[in-house]
Amino acid sequence: MCGIIAYSGHRPAVPVLVQGLKSLEYRGYDSAGLAFVHMEKLHLFRASGKLEALEAKLDSGHVLHATSGIGHTRWATHGLPNEVNAHPHLDVHAHLALVHNGIIENFQDLKNMLSGCGCSFRSETDTEVLVCLISHGLNQTGSIREAISWALNLIEGSYAFALISKDHPGTIWAARQASPLIFGQGTGENFVASDIPAFLPFTKDVVFLEDNELVEMNSSQWTVFNASTLAPVSKSIQTVAWDVQAARKGGYKHFMLKEIFEQPKVIRDCLSGRIDRKTGNIHLPEIENLPAPGRLHIIACGTSYHAGLWAKYLMEDMARIPVDVEIASEFRYKPLVPEQDKVYLTISQSGETADTLAAIALVKKHGMPVLGLCNVVGSSIARESDHVIFTQAGPEISVASTKAMCSQLVLIFLLSLYWAARKGLLDRQTAEKAIAAFETLPGILERSLPLMRETAASIGRKYSSSRSFFFLGRGIYFPLALEGALKLKEISYIHAEGYAAGELKHGPIALIDPDFPTLAIAPPDHLLGKVKSNLKEIQARKGRIIALTQEGSGLEVDDTWNVPRTWGYLNSFFMLPALQLFAYETAVYLGKDVDQPRNLAKSVTVE
Ligand code: AGP
Repeated sequence: MCGIIAYSGHRPAVPVLVQGLKSLEYRGYDSAGLAFVHMEKLHLFRASGKLEALEAKLDSGHVLHATSGIGHTRWATHGLPNEVNAHPHLDVHAHLALVHNGIIENFQDLKNMLSGCGCSFRSETDTEVLVCLISHGLNQTGSIREAISWALNLIEGSYAFALISKDHPGTIWAARQASPLIFGQGTGENFVASDIPAFLPFTKDVVFLEDNELVEMNSSQWTVFNASTLAPVSKSIQTVAWDVQAARKGGYKHFMLKEIFEQPKVIRDCLSGRIDRKTGNIHLPEIENLPAPGRLHIIACGTSYHAGLWAKYLMEDMARIPVDVEIASEFRYKPLVPEQDKVYLTISQSGETADTLAAIALVKKHGMPVLGLCNVVGSSIARESDHVIFTQAGPEISVASTKAMCSQLVLIFLLSLYWAARKGLLDRQTAEKAIAAFETLPGILERSLPLMRETAASIGRKYSSSRSFFFLGRGIYFPLALEGALKLKEISYIHAEGYAAGELKHGPIALIDPDFPTLAIAPPDHLLGKVKSNLKEIQARKGRIIALTQEGSGLEVDDTWNVPRTWGYLNSFFMLPALQLFAYETAVYLGKDVDQPRNLAKSVTVE
């Protein structure tokens, strides 16, 4: 997820662009850049690292002369977060400059085609391919609007981009497909950005661009076209009532809520370019040179550790790979017994967790291979791992990890299918069922989240005075029970313990009383009968029970919470947001600081 902004108006453009990028830094901040036309020349400024590094370069006199330009703050998906890969990118003749947010899935094919036409590339990015493709189209059509349309008809994937031309100072072209892009109409000035906060200080009059729409604008005029046909599209202007802070959260009260509701998009983004719907094949080019391991050893912390526990069930069932899962802070101080044909998988959202980093160092000291599953391109764990798969969840701002775990589960599922296929264990029917279920999952989740949130708020209020909670689950829902307990603890400060449901009778059930409720993840699967027995044991001791389940479970408990149902392991993607929302709504009801809970940090970079 990156942030883009474009401006054309009466003010010096660079301060407007920089201010806009500052308000978009939550969308990505590993490098930044801007470009503008001055004296018939394209001027380009880029820097890796935070926005301050870019500002330090904006010292030349003519920086304040331009009154239009484009800017970008990057969250790397293709290519390291360095200056070469930073946006804006230019075409080979330096006539065009472009900033982009999204993933061009077929960029490699297009890059090969353009290279065959004599185009050379400086960066590893898909974005540079896009601007060179438009330039190639311009050579054929003579019109930038037509060149953009021609190029977009060849593109597969998601984009929101803004483009300027040295031959058309003051004019900006911008288009979107599956990535947000909003037009802002000012007085004698116009804006385009990934998100409203970028230009909210200047105007509240906005037009939400739709997929396959192209806007052409300058300081005083703007027209929206259908990007395929170039037919003009009439659009209505809306006035937003948000303040800047609310706008950064997309209108949500907290980043945590925004990130929970981003999970359908995260699933789509994680799948983008990785599943072939026609053949049922899974594409993970990051590990095509890594054979399916004989054993897998997963190391992580916190929520990522819970994702690792979940992985054990899938890897052993689908890919028949024996899996060990360890907490990094324990692993790093134990003697390591090297085993042939073992791969170590580290899972980390931030890529900077000290214990996990130390575990990698120990593994590498023994010459064993490390595969990193990470959300931050260019992070320490990503750099230290021998192979790395990025979860493409976008920046996760809230301390409580939500969408990152969702993305980890998606990649773990794909990894299980991938290695099962490599070992000849994946039958075509299972692959087709899994891919078909993955296809419909984001849409079902998108439609069910609002009701899920209402139920979470109602049940959360009812149990908010509890002093402690059990979270129970069996099979793949045991790791989710641990995660549900962690979420409740870390943002509502209510004590909670996650347990394997079958383990309760071995001691913990002594704690059950009417003030010690249980949330049981109890879908109507092959283990429901066993879970029902565990719940009866609790009810016999007057324990109250919330059952997180699905239609048809026939449970008789104090509160039944039904979520949608899908195929097999993918039901986890309905249980997880329910658990997250239960913790969120309880914490909000108790007036806690949801995004920055006491005593916690987003990334634990110390022991
Ligand atoms: C999750 O809500 C917590 N914030 C925490 O447990 C976190 O998952 C853990 O610190 C691991 O972080 P990482 O994924 O960035 O390595």
